[in-house]
Amino acid sequence: MDVGGLAQSEPNREENLLSEIAVIGAGYVGLVTSACLAKLGHQVVCLEIHPERLAQLRAGRVPIHEPGLAPLITAHFATGRLRFTDDYADAIPKSEFIFIAVNTPPTGDGRADTGFVFRAVESLIPHLRRDAVVITKSTVPVGTGDRIAEALTRGGAQASVVSNPEFLREGSAVADFFSPDRIVVGADDHEAAQRVLRLFENVVARESLVVNRRSAELAKYAANAFLATRISFMNEVAEICDASGADVEEVARIMGSDRRIGPSFLKAGLGWGGSCFPKDVQALAASAADFGQTAGILRAVYGTNHRQRVKAVEMIQRHLPINGEGVVGVLGLAFKPDTDDIRESPGIAMVSRLAASGVTVRAHDPVAMERAAECVPVGALMADPYTVARGADVLVVATEWPEYLEMDWARVRREMATPVVFDGRNALDREYLQALGFVYLSFGRSPRGEGPWGAHPAARLSPELVRAG
Ligand code: UGA
Repeated sequence: MDVGGLAQSEPNREENLLSEIAVIGAGYVGLVTSACLAKLGHQVVCLEIHPERLAQLRAGRVPIHEPGLAPLITAHFATGRLRFTDDYADAIPKSEFIFIAVNTPPTGDGRADTGFVFRAVESLIPHLRRDAVVITKSTVPVGTGDRIAEALTRGGAQASVVSNPEFLREGSAVADFFSPDRIVVGADDHEAAQRVLRLFENVVARESLVVNRRSAELAKYAANAFLATRISFMNEVAEICDASGADVEEVARIMGSDRRIGPSFLKAGLGWGGSCFPKDVQALAASAADFGQTAGILRAVYGTNHRQRVKAVEMIQRHLPINGEGVVGVLGLAFKPDTDDIRESPGIAMVSRLAASGVTVRAHDPVAMERAAECVPVGALMADPYTVARGADVLVVATEWPEYLEMDWARVRREMATPVVFDGRNALDREYLQALGFVYLSFGRSPRGEGPWGAHPAARLSPELVRAG
């Protein structure tokens, strides 16, 4: 998006200039970190070696859709507190703090690839100040900080190495940066830890935790894996709901009202996607294996998530008029609302699986169409959601964008060939849709005896249970 028009919107507050910081990597985490640190008053240089991305940023264009990010970048680019470079010799010598915010993509066996991290470390070694602190913002396997420290020592550098994991959610990353639940600093060097904490002095965190470096590294994975576990657990509960006639939304409400459990991340549906949960669950399982542990729960959590998509396609196919053939509309290609990120997106997975099974697929997303173009069949993308619904046999809501929840569903029903809606996020008003004449499909909200997985299993239960039902 072009953010040029927003220049000069932030006053130049030189008195607030605090520290000289370099952020390596202008990806999602690096850009949010750079812009927010500049907003806190620091002098930030963001280092990006990808020429196209660097050129975009220097031209005032923000390459990702993240609420609140573009105005921040524009404002601080204009004040000079944030700049972009591809030159380590330019960025590192002046910087007291160096955040490594490059990606750690999954390798074939699920391990996190730390290649970009170590390439960055090697590149910065010749330029490091003696008092510099190297901070890992990238999500890295436990023990990576030790390896970075060894690489620095081997290269003759003296910097401290600190872990400062990020807990930013896409779609609300800027808000999360300024009011996080916690700031975590993992360090073996107490003085370096305090210096890093001071960078966030003006951030209103509920808690600041200084811990050992390995704990900080592991906690990042454990937090993400635990959230993914809650969702997979609820998807398993949803399966039992469908089989038994319970309603997963009601079950989740009851569970969530227990303060020991809490209501977040209990939403059943198509499951988790994005650039973090899938890779982090796998990477943590791989780390466990490296330390001789089995991590059985993590493997099950991943498997349950994968199965949601397979089951969804089977359920949809059973509702097509001709066996396996028909038209299916998919609404939502971003992995969740308020982002254009399609990595590991359930919506994209649905489009691919349905198309591969011979179904004609149409799709739409409010912001992720450009990114999705290469991942969906040619001609599948439609300009608006009503065109997706036109002539469709089944309409899938794969991402709970507000514009889909607020559609004119009476009109949608008129547009469709057969009024079957698959609510992949348990986000629609089931009763309202049913009143309009829709067949409503979902995970865990099917009326008793009409579970999507076939006949009511009460038939297989004891006669007493069947009578009690
Ligand atoms: C996640 C974490 O929430 C952040 O704390 C962390 O910093 C980030 O990963 C990261 O490691 O960088 P994010 O991937 O942006 O953030 O997305 P979430 O909001 O956590 O959602 C992940 C997935 O779970 C989405 O596909 C979402 O639709 C799904 N989800 C979420 C459910 O299926 N059910 C729920 O109840 C909640």
